[in-house]
Amino acid sequence: MDKILVIGAGGQLGTELVSALQLLHGRENVVASDIRPESEVKMDGTYICLDVLDEQALHEAVIKHEISQVYHLAAVLSARGESHPLFAWDLNMKSLLHVLELGRIGRIKKIFWPSSIAVFGPDTPKENTPQYTRMNPTTVYGISKLAGERWCDYYYRKYGVDVRSVRYPGLIGYKSLPGGGTTDYAVDIFYQAVQGRPFSCFLQAGTRLPMMYMEDAVNATLKLMQADPSRLSVRSSYNLAGISFSPDEIYAEIKTHFPEFAISYQPDYRQAIADSWPSGIDDTVAQNDWDWQPHFDLARMTSEIIGHLTEQFQRA
Ligand code: SER
Repeated sequence: MDKILVIGAGGQLGTELVSALQLLHGRENVVASDIRPESEVKMDGTYICLDVLDEQALHEAVIKHEISQVYHLAAVLSARGESHPLFAWDLNMKSLLHVLELGRIGRIKKIFWPSSIAVFGPDTPKENTPQYTRMNPTTVYGISKLAGERWCDYYYRKYGVDVRSVRYPGLIGYKSLPGGGTTDYAVDIFYQAVQGRPFSCFLQAGTRLPMMYMEDAVNATLKLMQADPSRLSVRSSYNLAGISFSPDEIYAEIKTHFPEFAISYQPDYRQAIADSWPSGIDDTVAQNDWDWQPHFDLARMTSEIIGHLTEQFQRA
């Protein structure tokens, strides 16, 4: 039986991935970790407080809990990274190298590490962005993810480390809030709508970005990690597509549920980040290599999230 360590488990993706991994591998075989103390992270199952920059502590945790797989999700995202560029680089890079080293010395067998659409830049083709294309990211986050992709590929080729990765679009869920990203507005908008409040959007109305409903993102992650390694032709990171939409499109969809819902647009520094990213992704390689297919379109995602959040706020 594999024992799994999730690093950054208290984040937007981690919260949901931990539950899915517990279902798949058994609750006792998943160790959730985050830099925050347990009291701040409401996590069901085994939890440890771990700073992934402390290599010694990471090694000790892996040995103590007999870990064989690591899902390394901790990162500083695109918007926050611009205020703390050197810290973002340090955290995003060093932590990945610590985990890859565990693979190189044979301590763990399999690694999942997320990359992002942020690896693309202003000169990347915007529509149907291919797997292999021009990549000149302009954010520290994007630079660190692109460098990370090269390190993953390097450790795979040079040392045979079984590391797998996807370039997530903006992830949209209702269980926890994202922090410090450029796509965060697409989660916040639901929280405001459901509470009957107007929404102020930090991106322009027509800014189309690649997004994905959390359930699809979790399924993609598990599917890639379960895929036959001989079918995987990409060891840097796979393009992954879900739904592309702009603030005015998601607003219109939410308005079908809440006709009174109002929006205003106050673009800030995040507009330039969004403008440097693609608006749609071609993920044919992921489809071919590990049979990837998303299940949620904008309408289905919207009604699911509104249903769950309405229930959540009624209970509170
Ligand atoms: N959601 C991320 C961000 O906005 C993109 O990977 O930074």
